[in-house]
Amino acid sequence: MPRPLISASVLSADFTRLGAQVREAEDAGADYLHLDLMDGRFVPNLSFGPMVAKALRPVTSLPFHAHLMVESPESYFDELVPYCELITVHAEACLHLHRTLCRLRELGVKRGVALNPATPLCHVSHVLDEIDTLLVMTVEPGFGGQEFIQSMRAKIRDAAEMLAHCGRQVELEVDGGINHETVQAVVSEGATVVVAGTAVFQHPRGIRAGVDALRLP
Ligand code: DX5
Ligand code: ZN
Repeated sequence: MPRPLISASVLSADFTRLGAQVREAEDAGADYLHLDLMDGRFVPNLSFGPMVAKALRPVTSLPFHAHLMVESPESYFDELVPYCELITVHAEACLHLHRTLCRLRELGVKRGVALNPATPLCHVSHVLDEIDTLLVMTVEPGFGGQEFIQSMRAKIRDAAEMLAHCGRQVELEVDGGINHETVQAVVSEGATVVVAGTAVFQHPRGIRAGVDALRLP
């Protein structure tokens, strides 16, 4: 099975020592750092804003991937762009998704679109030329530590098929409930990047064991 790239989500980290935890994830071999911005409106939870990306930037050389679970995500682009390699917006939060993606292109950052579990793939099928990553949510966004929604396996499979025929390389990322068991399922369906919060930062034997457990044999 192909080896997925691992994006460590700090939402489940110990915020009293965030810098040290991020360095540990980098040393353990994580490929990206996943930053979940939540506004208490698009999702029923608040997390943090761009200042955390700014604060963590000197601490690590991992590329930052911002996952914007907010209304009007455009409001945060200027503050995030200096620190982030990839910015992912939710299709459900963008009335004019194509325009939003063009704005990100102008800003010179990689672009992702996320889909909630109930949102069909056709919501992105006409903007595939404008994205680098398709993020399939495998839980309802808003909280770490939720259980993987098994019916998302078929959606990941269909997404992989769609991307294989789009004529360019688009990463297929999954987010929510990824652990040492579900990682095998999502990679076998075609996921190329896995986001993991609890499985990395709350592994009983520590962060390195958490990252190692996500490596497929
Ligand atoms: C949830 C966030 C996730 C979250 C995943 O809305 O988008 O990135 O951190 O957490 P786990 O890996 O614990 O499901
Ligand atoms: Zn996320």
